[in-house]
Amino acid sequence: MKRIVILGTGGTIAGQARSAADNTGYVAGTIGVADLIAAVPPLAAFPIDAEQVAQIDSKDMTFAVWRALAQRLAHHLAREEVAGIVVTHGTDTLEETAYFLHRVLAPTRPVVLTAAMRPAGALAADGPQNLLDAVRLASSQEARGVLVCMAGTIHAGCEVRKAHPYRVNAFDSGDAGPLAYIEEGALRRLRDWPHGEALGLAHVPHDDWPRVDIVLNHAGADGALVDALCALGARGIVAAGTGNGTLGAPLEAALLRAQAGGVAVLRTSRTARGRVIDTPGAVLPGAGVLTPVQARIELMLRLM
Ligand code: SIN
Repeated sequence: MKRIVILGTGGTIAGQARSAADNTGYVAGTIGVADLIAAVPPLAAFPIDAEQVAQIDSKDMTFAVWRALAQRLAHHLAREEVAGIVVTHGTDTLEETAYFLHRVLAPTRPVVLTAAMRPAGALAADGPQNLLDAVRLASSQEARGVLVCMAGTIHAGCEVRKAHPYRVNAFDSGDAGPLAYIEEGALRRLRDWPHGEALGLAHVPHDDWPRVDIVLNHAGADGALVDALCALGARGIVAAGTGNGTLGAPLEAALLRAQAGGVAVLRTSRTARGRVIDTPGAVLPGAGVLTPVQARIELMLRLM
C-alpha cells in the first residue's frame, strides 16, 4: 500500500471551543495534525506521514504559507511511494489556496484539501469524517489533481468556492457542479478529474509578490479606491462588477486610467455563478468563469 501524506495548516478542523455546543465561538488552528489523525481510528489502516506546515486561522493566510505549502507538496509529490496528499485547511480561504495550488502544481496524483465547519470537539463535528473521506480519496488510484473533499462531496480546486458561512455542506462549484461524491469510501464520479499545465514552483517568488487588489462595483461606486490603489503601487486590480461584469461610469473611468498607466485589470462578476461574457469592443478584459478571488490569484501569477 502506498503512503499518504497529511499536511496540517490549521483551520476549524483543528479548532477548539470551550463548550461542545458552541459551533462559532472557538479558536481555529489549535490541535496538531498528529492529534487530528489519532482521533479518527479507521486512519490506523493507512500508512501515513504527517507534517505541520502551519497552524493558522485561514483568514490570516499569507503568501509565505502558500509558498511553504507548495514546496512541501512538491517535495512529497516527487516521492514515488506516495499515493496522494491531504491538506487540512480552514474553510475561509480554502478556495484561494486550492486555485493557487492548481495553477502552480497541477499534480497528476491527488492533492486533497479538506476542512470542517465545526470545531474538533463539537457535538457533531464534521472534521473526522471529512478527514477520513479525504484520505480515502487521496489513496484512490483513479483520482488526480487538486481536489476539495467536504461533506461527502468532491470539487475541483479550480472551480470550488465557499458558498455558505455556517452549514457543513458549505462549498459548491458554481455552474460546473461537483466532480464526484464519496459514499462509505466508494467514489461516484460525475465528471473528469481536473487537469492543467503547472506553472511550477520556480514561478513563485520568495517575497515581493505583486500587489493585486479587488474593488467592487455597487450603487454609488466611484473611482477613489482605484486611484488610491494605483498610488499605493498596485500592479493589478480585479473589478468585481455587477451582473455581467458591468461597472458604474466613474469606476470604469478610473480603471481605464489605471490600465492606461500600466496596471493590469481583470473584470469579474460579483454574482455567485456563471461567467463574464465579453461583449464586442469591451476595453477591460473579462476573467471568464473566474471568481474575483480566483482572478486575483490568476493576475498575481501572470505578473510574477
Ligand atoms: C478558518 O478558515 O481557518 C476558520 C474557519 C473555518 O475553518 O471554517
